[in-house]
Amino acid sequence: MSSELITDIGELTTQDPELGTLHDAALVIEGARVAWIGPASRAPAADASVSAGGRALLPGWVDSHTHLVFAGDRSAEFAERMAGRPYAAGGIMTTVDATRAASDEQLLAHGRRLRAEAEDGGTTTLEAKTGYGLDVESETRLARVSAEVADVVTYLGAHLVPAGVDRRDYLDLVTGPMLAAVAPYARFIDVFCETGAFDPDESREVLLAGRAAGLGLKVHGNQLGESGGVALAVELGAASVDHVNHLSDADVEALASSSTVATILPGADLSTRERLAPARRLADAGVTLAIASNCNPGTSFTTSMQFCVATAVLQHGLSLEEALAAATTGGAQALGLSTGTDAAGTLRVGGFADLQLLDAPSVTHLPYRPGVPLTRATWRRGIRSRA
Ligand code: NIG
Repeated sequence: MSSELITDIGELTTQDPELGTLHDAALVIEGARVAWIGPASRAPAADASVSAGGRALLPGWVDSHTHLVFAGDRSAEFAERMAGRPYAAGGIMTTVDATRAASDEQLLAHGRRLRAEAEDGGTTTLEAKTGYGLDVESETRLARVSAEVADVVTYLGAHLVPAGVDRRDYLDLVTGPMLAAVAPYARFIDVFCETGAFDPDESREVLLAGRAAGLGLKVHGNQLGESGGVALAVELGAASVDHVNHLSDADVEALASSSTVATILPGADLSTRERLAPARRLADAGVTLAIASNCNPGTSFTTSMQFCVATAVLQHGLSLEEALAAATTGGAQALGLSTGTDAAGTLRVGGFADLQLLDAPSVTHLPYRPGVPLTRATWRRGIRSRA
């Protein structure tokens, strides 16, 4: 197994509570894992060595919410929204039609391009949802392709009831044959619990069917109004509830006394001109937060976790430390990847060598230089993906 020493690290953010942040540090990668972390002056020899030149090194981003595999373009819908038309869930069908018409090869190529773009921006763990197929064959195809481009696949057959399909029939399909076909590829089941999509009772039915099939639970909740999605996610012990733009005091209290992660999606908040998720209020209440890109063609066509982290600091009022935690360990918790040999989001000896080197001396530059692509190199499982 070959080893690589990264030395002269000006600032090493580990996100590990015991190690914290180190200065003038070095790190050794052996195979896919971190073998050593410590002062640069005491670094052991390795097969290869690279100088970080005093720059900042930190864990790769854990992007816990994307809809990465799709076809088509919704820039016209976006332009209309910027001219004042509000976001409505109905736009999803535009992407469903384009996705059904695309070949496997087209979907895979597009998904790989977006994955590469995300990795160039420092993302090393990424979730992808189905939800642009909405029939058994298309959802299964999306799950299969997603499994090729993402680390974690989430089944979102309950994204919308397709036009012309009876509601009850569709729920039976989503919780029956579609679930059976997609479950082998998926780790989670998700539901869009919102006016215009699925109400809380329908959402509960979907989630319970997923749980019975062995899947973890996720909810798109409280994006466009107080949908009941947060209460449902907490009631069922979901791993995360995502969007969380419209929250009552009871929602915040429920989240604070649960292990459900609240995932904020800054790209969607800006692109839909929706009320910003109250991240400061959630953090003050002690809720565990994740930040994700929500890369999708309708509400957030970005793979840039750096943009989302910077926005969470500049617009949502999180401190940089809170935002970094949300984009690494928070995302890992939302994906059930906090502990064990598959754990993501921290740098520690024995853990995955998933890391990014910034073209900056400090992580402070992430929000200080918004819009500037600062990731100079990414290592995923010990392999450097960008020179
Ligand atoms: O997470 N809110 C629901 N689903 C996606 C958007 C889907 C779309 O408009 O294509 C989201 O924002």
